[in-house]
Amino acid sequence: MNEKPVVLVTRKLPDAVEERLRRSFDPRLNADDRVYTQGELLELAQGADAIVPTHTERLDAELIRRLPDSIRAICSFSVGFDHIDLQAAKARGIIVTNTPDVLSDATAEIALLLMLGAARRAHEGEQLIRTATWLEWSPTYRLGIQVTGKRLGIIGMGRVGQVLARRARGFDMEIHYYNRQRLSPELEAGARYHEDLDELLAVSQFLSIHCPATADTHHLLNAERIARLPDGAVVVNTARGAVVDDDALIAALSSGKLFAAGLDVYNGEPNIDPRYRELENTFLLPHIGSATRETRDAMGFRALDNLDAIMAGREPADRLV
Ligand code: DGY
Repeated sequence: MNEKPVVLVTRKLPDAVEERLRRSFDPRLNADDRVYTQGELLELAQGADAIVPTHTERLDAELIRRLPDSIRAICSFSVGFDHIDLQAAKARGIIVTNTPDVLSDATAEIALLLMLGAARRAHEGEQLIRTATWLEWSPTYRLGIQVTGKRLGIIGMGRVGQVLARRARGFDMEIHYYNRQRLSPELEAGARYHEDLDELLAVSQFLSIHCPATADTHHLLNAERIARLPDGAVVVNTARGAVVDDDALIAALSSGKLFAAGLDVYNGEPNIDPRYRELENTFLLPHIGSATRETRDAMGFRALDNLDAIMAGREPADRLV
């Protein structure tokens, strides 16, 4: 009888995904959903054929160097792969995959929620209700800014950026974007391309970040770039915290240069810069861009499709290295 491949799964995955894992593999599951230390990861990986991590594990060069020789694949339950040192994996002949496409709708929904929540001061309003401090309706109380008809600048017009653009058109927004490559006219669908990031910033009354965290995009949104945004702009980030310089964003929110920010991702999360919590003009969510039942199932199945392919000696659809 052929033994099933052993798979280390670092976090608790949706039930349907774990069921499928049990059918095809011998999974080492994490029922407590605790974030493992590097030492625990190495220990649990002993004798395993593959790892299914999430973005909460740092698979850096040192950890990958110390993985047992039995590990053939790292099939991440995430579209982002900034938590995995791809070059180190490649050097060891370990195949790495991610889960693109399946979370674009869910993440674009959260970007829209952040835009609306930040612009319409949703958290302040909700707090008034929850703390029973809403005293009276007033014509001038807690005025936000309207989203409808505004210019939306999108940094990174990949899958999520394109879905957001489609949804934002429902609010009559004028779409502008900055991307490494210009999209085809069909995909652009009337969006205006800016080859120069500074030009995009200058027109972005709303700015939404959708580029990956890489060495090139680290602190891309810094003080100099924020200064180029129109006064009173709203910044939204559903990509990765590392793309934003927290000091610069917090200074611009405090000074009133920016009207508000809607954030789902942070540097050092979950230990975010505490100053964000103190600001009235932030609308903050705990990295839930892809957190719908449908999407988390789809992410799991996509990771397992990749794993199935690798274990069967086929090319996985989402191979990164
Ligand atoms: C992703 O898939 O990259 C999301 O940020 C969740 O990890």
